[in-house]
Amino acid sequence: MGVHADIKLVDHDDQGVDLAFRADVLNGLAQRQKAIPARWFYDMAGSELFERITALPEYYPTRTETALLAAHAAEVAALVGRGRAVVEFGSGSSVKTPLLLKEMDAAAYVPIDISGDFLRQSSVDLAAKFPDLAVIPIEADFMKPVPLPAATAGLDMLGFFPGSTIGNMVPHTAVDLLRSMRQTLGDRSHLLIGIDRAKDIGRLVAAYDDAQGITARFNLNLLERINRELGGDIPVDRFRHVARWNEDWSRIEMHLEAIEDVAFTISGRSMTMRRGETIHTENSHKYTPNQARLMLQAGGWTPRAQWSDEDENFLVVLAEATEYRSAP
Ligand code: AVJ
Repeated sequence: MGVHADIKLVDHDDQGVDLAFRADVLNGLAQRQKAIPARWFYDMAGSELFERITALPEYYPTRTETALLAAHAAEVAALVGRGRAVVEFGSGSSVKTPLLLKEMDAAAYVPIDISGDFLRQSSVDLAAKFPDLAVIPIEADFMKPVPLPAATAGLDMLGFFPGSTIGNMVPHTAVDLLRSMRQTLGDRSHLLIGIDRAKDIGRLVAAYDDAQGITARFNLNLLERINRELGGDIPVDRFRHVARWNEDWSRIEMHLEAIEDVAFTISGRSMTMRRGETIHTENSHKYTPNQARLMLQAGGWTPRAQWSDEDENFLVVLAEATEYRSAP
């Protein structure tokens, strides 16, 4: 079995520039509140920094979700049945995946990730752990509908969307994505999703502004990536990492704040920022279990089972594609 040649759905120009990255950066920095979508954090350096974040004492989500999956993967497998194709959205390093796959007896595993190098490495590692499994990586932005490989045709699907990545989206975009996953995965599919819970604000801010400054480096790496890949000359040391709670939206926001007036160019375009002005780089929405279930229902998924830890930090929900029907 092993790893199939990866399917690439990402466009580069003849200089190797990721066109969607350049468009998002140039458009995002032309807005009144400058903003760059969080998915661009994850180049090789950013993916490695994120892995270090997951091990920080303040960053509880990864270890909590991993423990939940270790404890309940067998129940998930019993509820959805064996022989499924498992489709993972934003697979990253795929450390949680083996916990699920070892119970699932899956017919195929399809990791979808925007970070191609990281995806290839983790696919090779995973295939080594599961020699009988067909691993079919797709390098793509899963915010757009991703056509599933022919090898999965006719199989029932289990979508796997861990890490509370759904929290990066504002609720209406999250619902759009859930609906699009419902469409991609089809009738009789299931979705196993991790969602970070609303909790004490001090703990949330600490999780996104750790004492060792790894999250700050993760955030600032976005500017370094722009300089590297888009021919920028942003003075990175003139920016600082900010993590703040937005009560109205129930989310942590990360920003990059200019500590003095700055001028720079990106892809030949000149820009300026005033002291105190920020680039909004990430939202991380936090949900109560009721809000999480409502969001899934709005996206066409019926929650069937849920698991949380004793400290009520994190929620894992197993949902089933809602049957279409016209009656109430
Ligand atoms: C991978 C999106 C779930 O929002 O907690 C960690 C990313 N950002 N620290 C999150 C992140 C800053 C993370 N997600």
